[in-house]
Amino acid sequence: MIAKPDAGPEIPGRTSVPRAHHFRGSLGRFATGVAIVTFDGVTKRHGITVNSFTSVSMEPPLVLVSIARATKAHDELAGRPFTVNILGAEQRQLAMHFAGRPGPEPLWVESATAPRLSNVLAWFECQPWAAYDGGDHTLYLGEVVDFNYRNGDALAFANSAFTTIPESQLGMEDLL
Ligand SMILES: Cc1cc2nc3c(=O)[nH]c(=O)nc-3n(C[C@H](O)[C@H](O)[C@H](O)COP(=O)(O)O)c2cc1C
Repeated sequence: MIAKPDAGPEIPGRTSVPRAHHFRGSLGRFATGVAIVTFDGVTKRHGITVNSFTSVSMEPPLVLVSIARATKAHDELAGRPFTVNILGAEQRQLAMHFAGRPGPEPLWVESATAPRLSNVLAWFECQPWAAYDGGDHTLYLGEVVDFNYRNGDALAFANSAFTTIPESQLGMEDLL
Protein backbone atom coordinates (compact mmCIF):
# COMPACT_ATOMS: atom_id res chain seq x y z
CA MET A 1 0.00 0.00 0.00
CA ILE A 2 1.25 3.50 -0.85
CA ALA A 3 0.83 6.09 1.92
CA LYS A 4 -0.74 9.44 1.08
CA PRO A 5 1.60 12.37 1.86
CA ASP A 6 -0.58 13.42 4.80
CA ALA A 7 -1.40 9.92 5.95
CA GLY A 8 -0.54 8.73 9.43
CA PRO A 9 1.98 6.04 10.27
CA GLU A 10 1.94 2.83 8.25
CA ILE A 11 3.09 0.63 11.13
CA PRO A 12 0.82 -2.40 11.64
CA GLY A 13 -0.73 -2.41 15.10
CA ARG A 14 0.43 1.09 15.98
CA THR A 15 -1.77 4.11 15.50
CA SER A 16 -0.17 6.90 17.52
CA VAL A 17 3.50 7.09 16.53
CA PRO A 18 4.40 10.80 16.61
CA ARG A 19 4.71 12.20 13.10
CA ALA A 20 8.29 13.53 13.51
CA HIS A 21 9.41 10.17 14.83
CA HIS A 22 7.72 8.45 11.90
CA PHE A 23 9.33 10.92 9.45
CA ARG A 24 12.78 10.17 10.94
CA GLY A 25 12.08 6.46 10.77
CA SER A 26 11.08 6.72 7.13
CA LEU A 27 14.18 8.77 6.26
CA GLY A 28 16.31 6.26 8.15
CA ARG A 29 15.43 3.57 5.60
CA PHE A 30 17.76 5.38 3.18
CA ALA A 31 21.20 3.88 3.89
CA THR A 32 24.11 6.31 3.84
CA GLY A 33 27.79 6.51 4.59
CA VAL A 34 29.07 8.35 7.66
CA ALA A 35 31.27 11.44 7.52
CA ILE A 36 32.72 14.06 9.85
CA VAL A 37 32.94 17.70 8.80
CA THR A 38 36.03 19.33 10.32
CA PHE A 39 37.16 22.96 10.26
CA ASP A 40 38.81 25.67 12.32
CA GLY A 41 36.40 28.26 13.69
CA VAL A 42 37.28 31.58 15.29
CA THR A 43 38.27 30.23 18.67
CA LYS A 44 38.05 26.45 18.38
CA ARG A 45 38.36 23.45 16.08
CA HIS A 46 35.04 21.88 15.10
CA GLY A 47 34.02 18.39 14.10
CA ILE A 48 30.47 17.22 13.48
CA THR A 49 29.26 13.78 12.43
CA VAL A 50 26.94 13.84 9.41
CA ASN A 51 25.23 11.40 7.10
CA SER A 52 23.87 14.16 4.86
CA PHE A 53 26.97 14.22 2.64
CA THR A 54 26.18 14.22 -1.09
CA SER A 55 28.24 14.65 -4.21
CA VAL A 56 26.76 17.48 -6.30
CA SER A 57 28.87 18.36 -9.35
CA MET A 58 31.90 17.02 -11.22
CA GLU A 59 32.82 20.29 -12.96
CA PRO A 60 33.32 22.25 -10.86
CA PRO A 61 33.78 19.52 -8.21
CA LEU A 62 31.13 20.30 -5.57
CA VAL A 63 29.90 18.42 -2.50
CA LEU A 64 27.16 19.21 0.00
CA VAL A 65 26.51 18.73 3.71
CA SER A 66 23.34 19.67 5.59
CA ILE A 67 24.05 21.12 9.04
CA ALA A 68 21.39 21.68 11.71
CA ARG A 69 21.04 25.31 12.79
CA ALA A 70 21.01 24.18 16.43
CA THR A 71 24.55 22.74 16.31
CA LYS A 72 27.68 24.50 17.58
CA ALA A 73 29.28 24.11 14.14
CA HIS A 74 26.44 25.75 12.19
CA ASP A 75 27.19 29.47 12.44
CA GLU A 76 30.97 29.13 12.29
CA LEU A 77 30.92 27.01 9.14
CA ALA A 78 29.49 29.90 7.10
CA GLY A 79 32.17 31.15 4.70
CA ARG A 80 34.89 28.86 6.06
CA PRO A 81 36.89 26.10 4.36
CA PHE A 82 36.12 22.61 5.65
CA THR A 83 37.06 18.97 5.18
CA VAL A 84 34.62 16.10 4.78
CA ASN A 85 36.13 12.94 6.32
CA ILE A 86 34.49 9.70 5.12
CA LEU A 87 34.72 7.01 7.80
CA GLY A 88 35.89 3.42 7.50
CA ALA A 89 34.13 0.47 9.14
CA GLU A 90 36.42 0.50 12.20
CA GLN A 91 35.78 4.20 12.94
CA ARG A 92 32.39 4.03 14.74
CA GLN A 93 34.01 5.50 17.85
CA LEU A 94 35.06 8.55 15.82
CA ALA A 95 31.48 8.94 14.58
CA MET A 96 30.20 8.92 18.16
CA HIS A 97 33.01 11.24 19.35
CA PHE A 98 31.75 13.97 17.02
CA ALA A 99 28.08 13.27 17.72
CA GLY A 100 28.12 14.28 21.37
CA ARG A 101 29.66 11.12 22.91
CA PRO A 102 33.30 12.14 23.36
CA GLY A 103 35.98 9.47 23.58
CA PRO A 104 39.78 9.69 23.32
CA GLU A 105 41.00 12.75 21.41
CA PRO A 106 41.45 11.73 17.75
CA LEU A 107 44.59 12.27 15.70
CA TRP A 108 44.47 15.31 13.42
CA VAL A 109 46.27 16.03 10.16
CA GLU A 110 47.02 19.71 9.62
CA SER A 111 46.43 21.26 6.21
CA ALA A 112 46.46 24.75 4.72
CA THR A 113 42.75 24.46 3.78
CA ALA A 114 41.13 22.80 6.80
CA PRO A 115 42.23 20.16 9.31
CA ARG A 116 41.28 16.55 8.74
CA LEU A 117 41.22 13.33 10.74
CA SER A 118 43.97 10.74 10.49
CA ASN A 119 43.47 7.51 8.53
CA VAL A 120 39.91 8.11 7.31
CA LEU A 121 38.61 6.14 4.31
CA ALA A 122 38.43 9.22 2.08
CA TRP A 123 38.64 12.97 2.52
CA PHE A 124 37.64 16.08 0.59
CA GLU A 125 39.11 19.47 1.40
CA CYS A 126 36.69 22.20 0.38
CA GLN A 127 36.58 25.93 -0.10
CA PRO A 128 33.18 27.47 0.66
CA TRP A 129 31.04 27.65 -2.51
CA ALA A 130 27.48 28.49 -1.41
CA ALA A 131 25.04 28.11 1.48
CA TYR A 132 21.30 27.60 1.05
CA ASP A 133 18.39 27.76 3.47
CA GLY A 134 17.31 24.25 4.35
CA GLY A 135 14.61 24.87 6.95
CA ASP A 136 16.07 24.01 10.34
CA HIS A 137 19.31 23.07 8.51
CA THR A 138 21.64 24.96 6.15
CA LEU A 139 22.94 23.27 2.99
CA TYR A 140 26.65 24.07 2.74
CA LEU A 141 28.23 23.44 -0.65
CA GLY A 142 32.00 23.20 -0.89
CA GLU A 143 34.31 23.24 -3.89
CA VAL A 144 36.71 20.32 -3.56
CA VAL A 145 40.31 21.53 -3.80
CA ASP A 146 42.06 18.32 -2.68
CA PHE A 147 41.00 14.76 -1.92
CA ASN A 148 42.23 11.21 -1.47
CA TYR A 149 41.11 7.75 -0.36
CA ARG A 150 42.52 4.49 0.97
CA ASN A 151 41.32 0.92 0.60
CA GLY A 152 39.13 -0.57 3.34
CA ASP A 153 35.58 -1.41 4.39
CA ALA A 154 33.15 1.52 4.58
CA LEU A 155 31.08 2.59 7.61
CA ALA A 156 27.37 2.88 6.79
CA PHE A 157 24.28 4.08 8.68
CA ALA A 158 20.77 2.72 8.16
CA ASN A 159 17.70 2.19 10.36
CA SER A 160 19.40 4.22 13.13
CA ALA A 161 22.33 1.80 13.32
CA PHE A 162 25.88 1.57 12.07
CA THR A 163 26.76 -1.23 9.70
CA THR A 164 29.63 -2.18 7.41
CA ILE A 165 29.95 -2.23 3.65
CA PRO A 166 32.74 -4.65 2.71
CA GLU A 167 35.29 -3.29 0.29
CA SER A 168 34.60 -6.17 -2.10
CA GLN A 169 31.17 -4.64 -2.78
CA LEU A 170 32.70 -1.34 -3.83
CA GLY A 171 34.17 -0.85 -7.29
CA MET A 172 31.55 0.20 -9.85
CA GLU A 173 33.53 3.27 -10.88
CA ASP A 174 33.24 2.36 -14.55
CA LEU A 175 29.43 2.63 -14.37
CA LEU A 176 29.32 6.16 -12.93
C1 LIG B 1 25.11 8.89 12.11
C2 LIG B 1 24.83 10.35 12.41
C3 LIG B 1 24.52 11.22 11.39
C4 LIG B 1 24.28 12.58 11.63
N1 LIG B 1 24.03 13.41 10.59
C5 LIG B 1 23.86 14.74 10.82
C6 LIG B 1 23.72 15.64 9.70
O1 LIG B 1 23.72 15.25 8.54
N2 LIG B 1 23.58 16.97 9.99
C7 LIG B 1 23.60 17.45 11.27
O2 LIG B 1 23.46 18.67 11.48
N3 LIG B 1 23.73 16.60 12.34
C8 LIG B 1 23.88 15.27 12.13
N4 LIG B 1 24.06 14.43 13.18
C9 LIG B 1 23.98 14.95 14.56
C10 LIG B 1 25.26 15.68 14.95
O3 LIG B 1 26.41 14.88 14.77
C11 LIG B 1 25.15 16.08 16.44
O4 LIG B 1 23.99 16.83 16.59
C12 LIG B 1 26.36 16.87 16.84
O5 LIG B 1 26.94 16.22 17.92
C13 LIG B 1 25.99 18.26 17.25
O6 LIG B 1 27.09 18.81 17.91
P1 LIG B 1 26.92 19.90 19.06
O7 LIG B 1 26.02 19.29 20.12
O8 LIG B 1 28.30 20.10 19.54
O9 LIG B 1 26.31 21.10 18.45
C14 LIG B 1 24.31 13.07 12.96
C15 LIG B 1 24.63 12.18 14.02
C16 LIG B 1 24.89 10.85 13.73
C17 LIG B 1 25.26 9.91 14.89
